[in-house]
Amino acid sequence: MMKRIAVLTSGGDSPGMNPAIRSVVRTGVGLAIDVIGIENGYQGIFDNQFIPLGAIEVSGKNRDAGTFLATTRCMEMMRPDGPARAVEILRRHKIDGLVVIGGDGSLRGAQEIHHLGHPVIGLPGTIDNDIFGTDSGIGVDTALNTIIHSIDMIKATAASHRRCFIIEVMGRSCGYLALMSGITTGSQAAVIPEYKHNPTRIIDALNRRMQRKHNNSVIVVAEGVCTGQAFMDELLAAGKGKFDQEIRLTVLGHLQRGGSPTHSDRLLGSRMGEFAVLSLLQGETGAMVATVGGNMRLRNFDEIRDKKKVLPADAIRLAKNLDIEIGDVTE
Ligand code: F6P
Repeated sequence: MMKRIAVLTSGGDSPGMNPAIRSVVRTGVGLAIDVIGIENGYQGIFDNQFIPLGAIEVSGKNRDAGTFLATTRCMEMMRPDGPARAVEILRRHKIDGLVVIGGDGSLRGAQEIHHLGHPVIGLPGTIDNDIFGTDSGIGVDTALNTIIHSIDMIKATAASHRRCFIIEVMGRSCGYLALMSGITTGSQAAVIPEYKHNPTRIIDALNRRMQRKHNNSVIVVAEGVCTGQAFMDELLAAGKGKFDQEIRLTVLGHLQRGGSPTHSDRLLGSRMGEFAVLSLLQGETGAMVATVGGNMRLRNFDEIRDKKKVLPADAIRLAKNLDIEIGDVTE
């Protein structure tokens, strides 16, 4: 019997986590289940930060980026006895089921909890879109919108000064954000960890653009390749004597995690939150809610753990057909 469930957010925040929490709470309340919010991620379990949540507490939360429950990357959970201690505390608080919203590491914690016999469902909450088994994570769409809005703004000054801009974006070891923002902003190159970049070919692409009478250019670099500064040094070396435009660097940084969640992320968070509660009620555990071809489904933690998400082949093809230099495949 599920009488009391808890929800926490863990790892890096992502826009859409609040709508997901709201949906867990509203769905639970509607089904006469007590819902508890755990503050500060897994750390809140060890620190007994359990707060009852009702419909009022989550009112208006769809609009806000971040997570009102707050989040941490919890070291205690990573200790060998961390998950067992967490389960013991959850049981002491009479939590029948847990919903964990977070990225890779957070879902690994949830998997440990499941293996210790405590019901848990995970939701992919990360801007990186690096979680295997789901088409998208909560926050990816908003982050991409923030990135393309930023690049559009930079393009105005790039054109005025006739400059080339390098834009460093987040994504950990995944190039999804760089590839997709490169495609949708009409960038000349997307430098991504999945492909080996070729500075000489990038210089050629920039020069081709100059020959077409464009006076500015943009290259998106994924942080998983190297820092924007290191890439800029490489590009300056490759372009010596061959490319004479001034090159500037912008690191978008944590602003990529802010921004009011888009329609897509509000809906994704809401659908996934509801699905998590309904799944717990049906006796499901040890799985992540995924969106596959637009449909919600569960993917077992054991099935997705340690699997590397591959960039969509059609996006790679699109980038190439749109003359975006992405380098050579490495795997
Ligand atoms: O995983 C989300 C993410 O924003 C990554 O893209 C980035 O590398 C990392 O988190 C930054 O983490 P922190 O906020 O701890 O600096």
